[in-house]
Amino acid sequence: MLYLGIEGTAHTIGISVVEEKNRKINILSNTKDMYQPKQGLIPRELADHHTSLYQPLLKKALNEAKTKINEINYIVYSKGPGLPPTLRVTYIIAKTLSEKYNIPLIGVNHASAHISIAKHLTNFKDPVALYVSGGNTQIVMSSNNKYYILGESQDIALGNAYDKLARHMNLPFPGGPKIEELAKKGTYLSLPYTIKGMDFSFSGITTEAERKYDSGHKPEDVAFSFQETVLSIITEAIERALAHTEKKELIICGGVASNKRFNEMISTMAKNRKVLFKQIPKEYAGDNGAMIAIEYITNKKIYSVLKPNTPGKETTKQKWRLDEL
Ligand code: ATP
Ligand code: FE2
Repeated sequence: MLYLGIEGTAHTIGISVVEEKNRKINILSNTKDMYQPKQGLIPRELADHHTSLYQPLLKKALNEAKTKINEINYIVYSKGPGLPPTLRVTYIIAKTLSEKYNIPLIGVNHASAHISIAKHLTNFKDPVALYVSGGNTQIVMSSNNKYYILGESQDIALGNAYDKLARHMNLPFPGGPKIEELAKKGTYLSLPYTIKGMDFSFSGITTEAERKYDSGHKPEDVAFSFQETVLSIITEAIERALAHTEKKELIICGGVASNKRFNEMISTMAKNRKVLFKQIPKEYAGDNGAMIAIEYITNKKIYSVLKPNTPGKETTKQKWRLDEL
C-alpha cells in the first residue's frame, strides 16, 4: 500500500510518500517547506504559501518515491489541530487530489502524528512521550489506545517561548535554533524556575529573559540562561512522569525535540533512571508529511476513510487535544 501524507496545520507544508509492505513501514520520500515570515506568522500568508508550494512538493515527493499519483492507495491529511486558514487549504488540496484521482481520503490528528512517527523511528512500544513544539508542550502516555496527559504547560508552549524571546532579540523565525546557537557562548544569569508537579509554565521566564536583554545583558548570556532554565524544568517534569508511571521508554517529538542540548540533558537523565531513550532525526521532529501518513498506518482503528466523492462533514478541526482522540 502507498500512502500520501500531507501536513499543513501551521508554518510548514509537507508532502511524503510512505509504503506499508509486509507490516513494515518505509518512508519513500519526505519533502517540505517552512514559511519564513518577515515578522510574525500571519495565517493568511501561511495559507498562500501552502497553496503556491504544494504542486512542486508533490511532484518532488512522487519522483523521489519513484511512483505516480495514480499508484497512491490513500491520501492522508492533517485535519487538526491548527490554524483555520492553513487547515482549510490543506483539506482542499487533499480533497481535490482525492477526487481528481479517485483515491480515498483520511484526516488525522497532527499531535498524535508527532508521537506516532517518533514511536515508529525508535521502535518503542509503550513510551512516555514529550510532545514539545510551537503550539504544545505536553507529557503524555497511552493506555488501552487512549492518551493521558500527565503534565503540560500552563501557559505558552516551549517552542513559542523560544520564538517569542528570539523575536524580542531581533532574531528571525523559527527562533529555537537561533537561541540554541547563541546559548553555546553564554554564561548563567538567574531566572525564575516554575514547575508544579508535572505541570510547568514558561511565560514568566520568557518575560524575565526579555527584561534581562533590555537591561543590557549579553544576548548569549540571556539565551544560555533561558535555555538551561526551561530545559531543566521540562527534564525534571519528565523525570517525575517516568517515576510515576514506571515506564521504561522515553521519546521526545515536535520541533523543539531537535535541540541538541535538550537531547543531552534527557539522555543523561534517562541513563541514570535506566530508561531507554533515542533521539529522532531532525527531519522528522518538526512538522512533516511522513508523520501524517504514519499516524493513519499505525492507528487505523480510530479514523474513518472517506470515499472520494463523500461530501465532507467535519473536514478540519481547529481544536483537537490528544485526550479527545
Ligand atoms: P504544533 O505541533 O504545536 O502545531 P508547530 O506546528 O509549531 O507545532 P513544529 O515544527 O513541530 O511545529 O515545531 C516548531 C517549533 O520548534 C518552533 O517554535 C521552533 O522555534 C521550535 N524549534 C525548532 N528547532 C528548535 C531548536 N533547535 N531548539 C528549540 N526549539 C526549536
Ligand atoms: Fe507540529
